Amino acid sequence: MSSESASKLIKYDMRCLSRSLVEEKTVDYYRIAGGTRPDLRVVDIDGNRLVVKDFKHSDFLFRAIVGPILVRREFGALRNLIGVKGIPQLIGRLDRYAIAIEHITGTSLDKVEPGVLTDDFYSDLRTVIDGMHSRGVAHCDLRSRGNVMLGNDGKPYVIDFAACVYRGRGINPFIKWLFRQFVLADNNAILRIKQRLSPELLTDAEQIELDTPLPFEVPARRVGENVRKLTRILLTRRNRDS
Ligand SMILES: Nc1ncnc2c1ncn2[C@@H]1O[C@H](COP(=O)(O)OP(=O)(O)OP(=O)(O)O)[C@@H](O)[C@H]1O
Ligand SMILES: [Mg+2]
Repeated sequence: MSSESASKLIKYDMRCLSRSLVEEKTVDYYRIAGGTRPDLRVVDIDGNRLVVKDFKHSDFLFRAIVGPILVRREFGALRNLIGVKGIPQLIGRLDRYAIAIEHITGTSLDKVEPGVLTDDFYSDLRTVIDGMHSRGVAHCDLRSRGNVMLGNDGKPYVIDFAACVYRGRGINPFIKWLFRQFVLADNNAILRIKQRLSPELLTDAEQIELDTPLPFEVPARRVGENVRKLTRILLTRRNRDS
């Protein structure tokens, strides 16, 4: 979508984007909500496509507690990233459960076959990630290949900021150091994607970087896995019943 049509949508949304309009104009679903997952709809308004991520129909406790936090987090990140090339533009928040984002025409990397991506793709991806970091946002979930897309224009796009962290404005050296660790983890995650999908393009320096574990990689992964497991057990009906 051109920046002109994206900004048209932003204005459009602020006054008129309602749940009933979203329902009426839905043309596709990437996913139907269930458990901890939101509905992901593709909506077409006057030829402009947007994606609406909506926790309203997720499991009750998840919808009530975690969904609004994730929506607020993603909204905050995308607001900081307005204008960064390779990040879908924020359209707006429908309510505390749902957010509308520019639709990217393309394929997420979990569906891209090895050998398809080029050196240019990875250097453009690094530019997107650097642009994101320079706005004070670390993604923190780039290991999940579904969160990076190959656009039909051949360019990379980064989506799904629900797990992101912010650098903040303070001067606390510990916070700055912590943010730096998340930046390193994002950069490392891109190399992991390259290792998986384009091992033939890895340089020697990148291979050495991949062979050197990040300082907090293992404990951070364990904490993440356990938090996810616990959330699923505590906040979704399906898992409590089974
Ligand atoms: N703005 C977008 N444009 C095009 N496709 C999108 C967009 N946002 C999401 N998608 C599609 O929906 C999929 C899931 O999106 P996203 O990662 O934001 O949701 P999620 O609920 O966090 O899913 P997961 O838990 O699988 O990461 C993406 O892999 C992509 O295929
Ligand atoms: Mg995702």
